[in-house]
Amino acid sequence: MHQIRQVVDSEFAAVNDFIIEQLHSNVPLVENIGHYIVDAGGKRLRPLLTLLCAGATGNIGHDSVRLAAVIEFIHTATLLHDDVVDLSELRRGRPTANANWGNAPSVLVGDFLYSRAFQILVGIGSMPLMDLLSHTTNTVAEGEVLQLTRVGDSATSEEDYFDVIRGKTAVLFAAACSGAAIINSAASHRETLHQYGLNLGIAFQLVDDILDYQGNPEETGKNVGDDLAEGKPTLPLIYALQHAKPEQQQQIRQAIEQRSAEHLTEILHTVQSCGALEYCQRQAEYFSNAAAESLNTLPASAYRDALVSLTTLALQRRS
Ligand code: IPE
Ligand code: IPE
Ligand code: MG
Ligand code: MG
Repeated sequence: MHQIRQVVDSEFAAVNDFIIEQLHSNVPLVENIGHYIVDAGGKRLRPLLTLLCAGATGNIGHDSVRLAAVIEFIHTATLLHDDVVDLSELRRGRPTANANWGNAPSVLVGDFLYSRAFQILVGIGSMPLMDLLSHTTNTVAEGEVLQLTRVGDSATSEEDYFDVIRGKTAVLFAAACSGAAIINSAASHRETLHQYGLNLGIAFQLVDDILDYQGNPEETGKNVGDDLAEGKPTLPLIYALQHAKPEQQQQIRQAIEQRSAEHLTEILHTVQSCGALEYCQRQAEYFSNAAAESLNTLPASAYRDALVSLTTLALQRRS
C-alpha cells in the first residue's frame, strides 16, 4: 500500500490537507467529531483510486484532488451513519463517534459531511460529475436501506446480498474511478474505470465480510462478529446456511432471526470450518480478476500498474 501511494505522493498529501481544510465549521461539535473520525486515519483507498485513475487517463490536477476529497467525505459520512445503524462500537481502532457522542450527533455530522462534499463538488462546477455523484450517493443510501430490509432475514439469497454490496459499497468505488475520467475529459475510459471500480468494490466488501468473521481487531480497527450480532445475512452466513451441518444451520438461522451473538464462538467456528470463508475468498478473487482485466484497454503507465496492484492487495488485506 505504501508503495502504491508513493506513485501519487504529493497529490495524496494535497488531498489530506484539503480534507482537513474542508472540515472547517463554526460549530465546534462538527469540527470535533469530524476531526475525530478523519484524524483516526482510515486507508484513504477511494481518494487513492481517484488520483491513480486521473494519472492513468491524463493528469492529476486540482479538480482531481478536490474530487478525491469529495469521495472520502461521502465515504466518511456513510461510516458515521453506518455505525449508528449497525450499533458498532469500534472504528479505525477507536470507539465509534456514536459510542462517544451518541447517535444524534453522529447522524447530524454525517449530514454535514455529505453536504460539504456537494459544496466542494459545486465548486468543481462539472454537471456530468454532479450527475454521477448525486446518483451514486442516492444508490449508496438505497443500498444501506436495502440491507436494512434484509436484517433478520435468514432467507436472504446470494443475489440479494450482491445487490446490497453493489449499492452500499461498489458504486462509490466506481464513481471514485470514473469521476477522474470525467475530469480529464477522457470519455473513452469512463466505462472501463467504472467497471474496474465496481468489481474492485465488490471484492473489497466481500473481504470486509470475511474479516468480520476472522479479522484481528488490532488490524481491522473493528470488532469481530458485528455482522452476526446485528442479524446481517452476509455471504459467509448465506453459504453456511446451505453447507454446514443441519444443527449448525439451525443455530445460524436462529441467530440471524433473533439478531443475537449469543452463540458467536460456535458460529465463528461453523463459518470457519464449513468452507464459507474460502468460498467468499474465491468470489472475491473472481471480482478482483475482473477488475484487473478491465484495465487492459488503458495505456500502460505506473498509475495503471498501481491500479492492478490494488486488485491483489484488496484480496490479501488484513485491515
Ligand atoms: C469500510 O471501508 C466500509 C466498507 C465499505 C467495508 P474502509 O475499509 O475503506 O474504511 P477506512 O476508510 O479504511 O476506515
Ligand atoms: C459497509 O458495510 C458500509 C458502508 C458502505 C457505509 P459494513 O457495515 O460491513 O462496513 P463496516 O464493516 O461497518 O466498516
Ligand atoms: Mg457497519
Ligand atoms: Mg463490515
